[in-house]
Order: sequence, then structure tokens, then C-alpha cells
Amino acid sequence: MTTTETIAPPKVTDKKMLIDGKWVEAASGKTFETVNPTTGDVICRVAEGDKADVDKAVAAARKALESKAWRNMAPAERGRLLYKLADLIEKNARELAALETLDNGKPIRDSLGGDVPGTAAVYRYFAGWADKIHGKVLPVAGPFHTYTRHEPVGVCGQIIPWNFPMMMQAHKWAPALACGCTSVLKPAEQTPLTALRIAELAMEAGFPEGVINVITGFGETAGAAIAAHGDVDKVTFTGSTAVGKAIMKASAETNLKRVTLELGGKSPNIIFADADADTAAKFAYFGCFFNMGQCCCAGTRLFVEDKIHDQVLENVTQRAKKTKIGDPFDHATTQGPQVSQEQFDRIMGYIGAGQKEGARCVTGGKRVDRPGYFVEPTIFDNVKDEMTIAREEIFGPVLSVLRFSDVDEAIRRGNNTMYGLAASVWTKDFAKAQRVAAGLRAGTVWINCYNVFDSSAPFGGFKMSGMGRELGEYALASYTEVKTVVTAIG
Ligand code: NAI
Ligand code: MG
Repeated sequence: MTTTETIAPPKVTDKKMLIDGKWVEAASGKTFETVNPTTGDVICRVAEGDKADVDKAVAAARKALESKAWRNMAPAERGRLLYKLADLIEKNARELAALETLDNGKPIRDSLGGDVPGTAAVYRYFAGWADKIHGKVLPVAGPFHTYTRHEPVGVCGQIIPWNFPMMMQAHKWAPALACGCTSVLKPAEQTPLTALRIAELAMEAGFPEGVINVITGFGETAGAAIAAHGDVDKVTFTGSTAVGKAIMKASAETNLKRVTLELGGKSPNIIFADADADTAAKFAYFGCFFNMGQCCCAGTRLFVEDKIHDQVLENVTQRAKKTKIGDPFDHATTQGPQVSQEQFDRIMGYIGAGQKEGARCVTGGKRVDRPGYFVEPTIFDNVKDEMTIAREEIFGPVLSVLRFSDVDEAIRRGNNTMYGLAASVWTKDFAKAQRVAAGLRAGTVWINCYNVFDSSAPFGGFKMSGMGRELGEYALASYTEVKTVVTAIG
């Protein structure tokens, strides 16, 4: 699906949100601006939903959950609707990629070559599950026929971030809908546009009114109202660890909604001296700088064995210097702007902390001299484990290089973080790779590769990187409740 045909930034009109199958303004009448991070200009205004709108959307989702149209729909038919949505996403690939690039700033080569096909793939994967979700007959003692039913967990509140807006919506909607749930989804305030367009396509595909609802608005108002709503059965969230904690607390204080969380990371990427150093360096660059470093699984702590430290550092530094930074609508661009002024400021603050705490800035470290929120790809050497840049998630194009000298040290220091989302190990020694993979406390370990995802492979975090798993068969468990049914037959 990649192309070098020019795609222009699309013209976008003001946006309403979707409640109960209708496109509506916020009850308050308020709106907010979504901004183009490449220029800092306003793209359009969007309805600013809050508690009142969340209440309406949850009521619609509850009504839809109990409606004959959805409850009695054949599972295969739910699958067919998801397949149809995937087809519509592909049919509108260029428009969706352009919207994502406009709103988020990611290079068009990524949105068109990665996000759009990846999104369609997730809907197709879960479409296939829709009629394959079932319980078991159990070999119980006594004259009883006992079986389980895997029923939809119910009304799902789904709160997503701005780094992969379309993909995150698919991670939430596809399994929820395959399992027969209904949804109130809140996109990030920075990037609401593709979620709204895909909601339109979902209605075109034929999902009944109220099955999917989209509330656009801010986290502290609309997001918090979803997390605290007494009639939401499950809440799922991707974003910062701080907000993840707040969501869990809100759930505990209301109705003990089921909670799944995909949170931050500080993933170690460990390169041993016996690895193919140039390939490892190439992927170390990609693993950290892809999507402007705005990836929860970014390999931001690059541990390099002493013997090849200089070679790897030189290789990643050259890559940083050659990065094509600029207009994300240019097909040659590989690095666009950060998503917002707020994220830009946060990253510059971390770069300052790295310099102040004594790490050596090898390349980058400054803003790019042009409008928009562009940060130079930045590499720090001589980073120590206790430095701020080695401990906190930066979510920007900033790599910390650390040295190590043996296997146990690599595992111990790799695990020296509150996070546990992903990790990578590079070596030609199979046994060593397996030993490290087993020793690292992370939800995904890549061996001699980085950022390899698949709809069938579960993704999620150990420790404070989250709870539960998205994607794969594992995701179904968090969208179903198990009911045991016992019949006396004696
Ligand atoms: P955030 O966690 O505040 O926002 C993510 C989503 O949560 C957005 O839809 C937001 O509106 C919503 N939200 C915010 N506060 C909420 C609340 N009190 N209740 C319910 N929903 C709420 O993340 P933010 O501020 O955009 O970025 C801060 C940092 O979070 C980043 O620098 C990065 O470190 C991390 N982050 C991690 C992501 C991941 O993929 N794991 C994605 C985005 C951010
Ligand atoms: Mg926030």
C-alpha cells in the first residue's frame, strides 16, 4: 500500500461526536481546537464532551447491549461487520493516513504503510474470532451437566492516547465488538480526527446504533467521567502510568469495573559483543526513534557490551545525523514533529536533565529551527542507571547509551526499572539469548529484532507497565465474563 504519489494535507471541517448513532454537539455546546503539530495551526474545532455527554453515551451503550439487534446478532454476523469495517478502512486508506499525519504529525510513509494496514489487520483478526468464542463442558462430580459460557463483559469505557490513534482504537474496538460488548471510546484530545472518521465508517459498515459511541474531550473531564461511571462494566486505557493509577482508583471507588491498562515503558535493548553489531545498531535506532520516540515500547535504554560500544555508538550517531526531518507529508521524511507543545516541552526538559546530570550529549539536543514541535534526534552516552533519563519515560527522540560487561549484569540492570513492557536482546548465541529472554521481566522480548508486532501476539506489561494483554486470543479474556451453568440431571 506504500506509494510515492503526493498526498496533500486534507481540508477538515469542525467535528461532532457520536452518541447513539447520531452526530451531536456537546451538551454544554463547548468545543476545543485540534492542532497541526507540523505548523502549530488549528486544524478544526471538535465537540468538547464531558460528564453529561458520557452519561448519554453510556446509557446508549447499555441500551444497545441489551437490544435484540446486537444481543441476538449471530456471532458470525458481528464478524462480518468487522470484516466490512476493515474493507472500508482499506478503501479509504489515503484519506485516513492523511488525517492521521495531519493530526499527529507522523510521516505519511508510516501512516500509509503501517498504521492503516495495521489497523485493518487488527479488525480482520478479531473478525475471525467473533464466532469462535465459547466455553467448555466440565467433568464435574455428581449427576450434573456443567458448562461455561463466555459472555460479553458489557459496556466498555475505552480511553486511548495520541501516539497511534487509529491502531489504539482498533486494539480497543476490535476485541470488544468481536466479543459482543458495546463501547464508549474517548480519543486523545490531541488527535481525535481518525477515531471520528473510523466511527463513521463503522456506522456505514452497519453496526447498530449505540454499539459504538465516541466522546471527544479532555481526560480530566470526559475521561475521568468514563472511569468513574457506575454503569460502565469495564474500562481499558492506554497512556501514562499516573493516569492508569487514577483510572484503577476510580474503578475501585465506584463499581469495581474490570480494568486493563497499557502504560509506559523504559525498555532495555541489550547488544552483546557477539551480535551482528551493524544490524543491531540499525534496529537500536529504529527501536528508539520510530514514531518520533513516541512508543510505549521504545528501546530507550541501549545497553552495549564494552567491546563493541564505540562501534555501535558511532553507527547510531550517524543514523541520527542522516535522519530526514521535515514535513511529514513528504514521502522521504522519516521524522516529523512531536505531537504537541506540551510533549515538546517535556522532552526538552529531559534533555536538559541529561546534560545537567552529566551524561554526554553525542548528537542532537536542540529544537529544529522551523515551525512546529520538532526535536533533533538526541543520543546520550555515559548514561548511568540512576540518571533521570535512564529512569523516566521521555516519549521523544532521545536515546540513552549504557555500557555493560556480562550477562547477569545485563539482566539485572535491564530489570532495574519500575516498567516492564518490552525488551530486546542481540546475540548469535542461542542459549544466551534464551537465558536473557527468560530473565527479563517484560511483556514482550524481541531476540535479534525490534518492534515486531502481530494481531495474534499478545502485548502488555509486567510491573507498572500495565495489567492484562491486548491482541491475540489472550485479549478475549478481558472482554468476556465466564458464567458457570449447572443443571441437575440425576
Ligand atoms: P495521558 O495518560 O494523560 O493521556 C492518555 C489518554 O488518557 C488521553 O485520552 C487523555 O485524555 C486521557 N486522560 C488523561 N487524564 C485522564 C484522567 N484523569 N482520567 C481518564 N482519562 C484521562 O498522557 P499524556 O498526558 O498525553 O502524555 C503524558 C505521558 O504519558 C507521555 O509523555 C508518555 O510518557 C505517556 N504516554 C504513554 C502512552 C503509551 O502508549 N503507553 C501514550 C501516551 C502517553
Ligand atoms: Mg495527561
